[in-house]
Amino acid sequence: MQWTGLNELREKFLEYFESKEHLRLPSFSLIPQGDNSLLLINSGMAPMKKYFTGEVEPPRRRVTTCQKCIRTGDIENVGYTDRHGTYFEMLGNFSFGDYFKREAISFAWEFFTQVLEMPKEKLYISVYENDDEAWNIWTKEIGVEESHMKRLGKEDNFWEHGSGPCGPCSEIYFDRGEKHGCGKPTCGVGCDCDRFVEVWNLVFSQFNNDGHGNYTDLVQKNIDTGMGLERLACVMQDVDNLFLVDTVQNIMKKITEIAGVHYGDDPKKDVSLRVITDHIRSTVFMIGDGVLPSNEGRGYVLRRLLRRASRHGKLLGIQGAFLKDVVDTVIQENEKAYPELLEKRETIKKIVSFEEESFQKTIDQGMALLNDLIDKADSKVFSGDNAFTLNDTYGFPLDLTKEILAERGMQVDEERFRQLMQEQRERARSARKDAGADAWKGEGSAASGLEETVFTGYTQMEGEGKVTAIIQNGQRVDSAAEGAEVSVVLDTTPFYGEGGGQVGDTGILEAEGVSVDVVDTSKHEGVYLHRAVVSEGSLRVGDVLAAKVDSARREAIMRNHTAAHLLQAALRKVLGDHVEQAGQLVNDRHVRFDFTHFSALTPEELLQVEELVNREILQAVPVSVQEMGIEEARKSGAMALFGEKYGDVVRVVSVEDGFSKELCGGTHMDNTARLGLFKIVSESSVASGVRRIEGVTGLGVLALLSTQAATLLDAARSMKVVNPMELPLHAQQMMAQLKEKDKEIESLNAKLAQNRLEGVFQNAQEVDGVKVVFALLSGTGSDALRALCDKAKERPEAIAAVFAGVSGGKATLAAACSKAAQQKGLKAGVLVKEVAQLCGGNGGGRPDFAMAGAKDQSKLDDALAAVPELVKKQIG
Ligand code: ALA
Repeated sequence: MQWTGLNELREKFLEYFESKEHLRLPSFSLIPQGDNSLLLINSGMAPMKKYFTGEVEPPRRRVTTCQKCIRTGDIENVGYTDRHGTYFEMLGNFSFGDYFKREAISFAWEFFTQVLEMPKEKLYISVYENDDEAWNIWTKEIGVEESHMKRLGKEDNFWEHGSGPCGPCSEIYFDRGEKHGCGKPTCGVGCDCDRFVEVWNLVFSQFNNDGHGNYTDLVQKNIDTGMGLERLACVMQDVDNLFLVDTVQNIMKKITEIAGVHYGDDPKKDVSLRVITDHIRSTVFMIGDGVLPSNEGRGYVLRRLLRRASRHGKLLGIQGAFLKDVVDTVIQENEKAYPELLEKRETIKKIVSFEEESFQKTIDQGMALLNDLIDKADSKVFSGDNAFTLNDTYGFPLDLTKEILAERGMQVDEERFRQLMQEQRERARSARKDAGADAWKGEGSAASGLEETVFTGYTQMEGEGKVTAIIQNGQRVDSAAEGAEVSVVLDTTPFYGEGGGQVGDTGILEAEGVSVDVVDTSKHEGVYLHRAVVSEGSLRVGDVLAAKVDSARREAIMRNHTAAHLLQAALRKVLGDHVEQAGQLVNDRHVRFDFTHFSALTPEELLQVEELVNREILQAVPVSVQEMGIEEARKSGAMALFGEKYGDVVRVVSVEDGFSKELCGGTHMDNTARLGLFKIVSESSVASGVRRIEGVTGLGVLALLSTQAATLLDAARSMKVVNPMELPLHAQQMMAQLKEKDKEIESLNAKLAQNRLEGVFQNAQEVDGVKVVFALLSGTGSDALRALCDKAKERPEAIAAVFAGVSGGKATLAAACSKAAQQKGLKAGVLVKEVAQLCGGNGGGRPDFAMAGAKDQSKLDDALAAVPELVKKQIG
């Protein structure tokens, strides 16, 4: 048995099972597809449940994988022990109704003893207590000594994880030798100590658990095996734990380099090193599979892991964000098996650093507050209100607060915390409800009990409908007179009821002598409400009306809705698969599309997106709609909104060249060409990690162009340019001319000041043989003042000059003393300081020249008038 690197072990396993006619599949995404029972894939079999149950035909009856897995059940233990981790890879060989126990056992034995050359005497086997078949295969066919066999109960040897396929199992243990044992006489397979490590689990998967403990036989007998790759590597590398395995150790080394510490020197630092090493592995793979940090579900797990890693970086004394540098090492160690990480490297780094930096902005403040609160706490229970503030204002996930408190032996009042979170959610909900004129939609409750409306608007803009109810002020009424504002319910309508981000239709309902203007349409449990004003005649329940949608408006809406689909597809192509719809509003004026992405789009990215959408438009691709079962839709690769509830039958809207395929209940153009053109109007941020693009199509583009052209024309006219295309050149010239003129004005001002100075010198007062000059020069800045002072101090006679200049709302004082004046004891620095103090300012400088600021401009005149006095005082 030879030391073998983790990457090599993975390859050996997969190659071995390929040689046994298994199809090697790449690891499935960590995000479960079509399985709401799991947040993240946690075992090799999880993504293949439907092959086990027989619901879906596998690509081959024998499959082998190395599956990325995340188990988050004990995040808080990670770091504190060297056994726990959240990320690992699981090697597995699977049979879907093909081979069963005999082959599974002999493959495992052959792989261990022949391929990896593990010594037989080191291997121990457990089987489910009454599984004689497995016992006999091991002992009689393989020839394992009974002293190396053990029967264990359901707790150990029956494998199941939540709902789904399960069954009795047989486990293979490796004996790491007495030195790792507890020394107890009972020590053996199943003991808690580190001697016998469970390496491989062979599950004879033959039952289905419905999630409530009811077991039924699967239609076929299967094999599901699972072996932690890191665990196997520990055995093959003869190291104690996952953190010492070659590739994992390389990641930790990178962290020790950044932090300038050594693993093994200080137990506290070791905890942090293990936390970061494990969490950065999980997060790189999660982001690689399209998870983005958020406050819910998988996104929350990711956020929690990243923030925990970041905090432990601080505990190690690392300044600033560092995780993105570790990302490179994680990718380097895994790029051969997971080349997609290389492609996504920049995206992963951006997301990690974005999250880490935004956390670090508040972490110090949050920690200071938390420490302060802990110090002041007079009980071991930390208040839920404070935990809420830490979460709401400082981005501390509850679990992080709990962990920090646990370090100090405290707990959180979680009930209060959850209550506050709930209240906050309700506040947000009612704020949304109160917003605007949507309140009328509450009238839906008055429509309960009515038959669902038949909606014909996917294919028609006009049709007949019978009035089944009229609602006025929340009450059902039999009739409504002219002028009444009502909600009308019809048995059949072509009017689209607001939903899926698409606004409701407007139009008219009419019959002989009756006309009703519909201003909006909404849906309430399948009943369509037309909010309307009776504009002519009166309306009665039972009336049959012609319903006519404002078709020009509706077509504009359809163009924008189809554009939203093209936009989403283009964004995913340009930015990556992490882009998911986070909300949208489609009306007749524009499409507003919110999506998950972590940073602003560059001008190039925006251009690329816009161009991709317009190419699809110019290619005039048909858009088709099919109704199908939700499972079939998912399998066809149609995009669905995560967490959205869909009915059993869904509509799939496809741009037929495969550019876009989405589950959608909205109305669409039948060909991309009918969008005319698509133009992005703006790109902005909505929330952390959510961006918004607004765009227009068809006539909307024309309107935009017209407005822009009109603005341009206006500007051209004001600037007296005949051809608007020459505006930029003209604007440049004008800016250059203005600059030129500014310079001219400046030099004129300087000349003017010079002339004034001449006058000032001539009128100078004599004080004890010194010419005292002072003047207030408005429109003169510090440069001009300095130039004046230079002139003054160069004069041969004794001159003391103080000038005040006001420019740009700021007053500056400057003083100069010529040589002769200095010889009489005068200092410019002292002079300017004393004058400045008279107007609330301060300053100082050299004896020949000094400057100061003056705060109170109203006192400048008086302060200057005091100059002769001050000179006299200095000389005296
Ligand atoms: N599904 C089995 C496990 O995860 C093999 O242990």
